[in-house]
Amino acid sequence: MTQAFIIGGAGKIGRRLAQQLHARGHRALSLYRAPEQAAELHQLGATPVQGNLLELDEAALAELMTGSDVVVFTAGAGGKGGPEMTNAIDGRGLELAVAAARRANVRRFLLVSAFPEAGRGRQVSDTFENYMAVKKQADVHLAQSDLDWVILRPGTLVDVEGTGRVHAGLAIPYGNVPRDDVAATLLALIEKPAVSRVIIELTEGNTPVREALEPFA
Ligand SMILES: NC(=O)c1ccc[n+]([C@@H]2O[C@H](COP(=O)([O-])OP(=O)(O)OC[C@H]3O[C@@H](n4cnc5c(N)ncnc54)[C@H](OP(=O)(O)O)[C@@H]3O)[C@@H](O)[C@H]2O)c1
Repeated sequence: MTQAFIIGGAGKIGRRLAQQLHARGHRALSLYRAPEQAAELHQLGATPVQGNLLELDEAALAELMTGSDVVVFTAGAGGKGGPEMTNAIDGRGLELAVAAARRANVRRFLLVSAFPEAGRGRQVSDTFENYMAVKKQADVHLAQSDLDWVILRPGTLVDVEGTGRVHAGLAIPYGNVPRDDVAATLLALIEKPAVSRVIIELTEGNTPVREALEPFA
């Protein structure tokens, strides 16, 4: 049984991951902000942990993580609050989580990042341009840490039902990917600690998730 601490636990990927972890007999501690999210997280089989990345300091977040085997960072401002909020959550929030994980001695750290081609070929807003820069800087920060990290870069997230099949590679063509399958990939990475210190691009595809990760182990 693995205990995963999910930052962004009430988010669309976070909820799917908690459910899938529970189904496999693992424990999900899901960080959430709004009180009304706790009941749904309970129903999914998660242990809700209330906390806000804008308010927690390193020591407080480390305390919440203590005893977990892995941290999954899938939080993001989602464009709300403009560049300032993206900087605060996707940027400084990730740095806070890395520092807290090191302090709590949780060595395994999975980051949901962004696909480098997102937005290419179309006019993007300054907010989106900033988002992509912040996501890349977050990758740089985590990759420079001494943690046992994996950075997952999914293509455009969609809410259609997952297929359990993906395309995963070091560099692959851009595409969509169901959130179910992103969560399934995170679960497989949690169960496959041999995959470490690598950046994986992910889209929909034809290979069963676990098989798709084999080459990285
Ligand atoms: N959209 C795409 O196509 C795409 C593609 C590649 C990667 N991504 C990345 O994938 C990640 C997850 O996607 P998703 O669909 O699961 O997003 P989501 O549903 O918006 O989940 C993000 C979570 O972050 C939480 N969060 C925001 N501010 C916070 C704070 N101050 N303290 C604690 N938690 C906070 C949100 O909490 P609340 O529930 O309280 O709002 C939310 O639950 C995001 O980081 C996104 O950048 C997205």
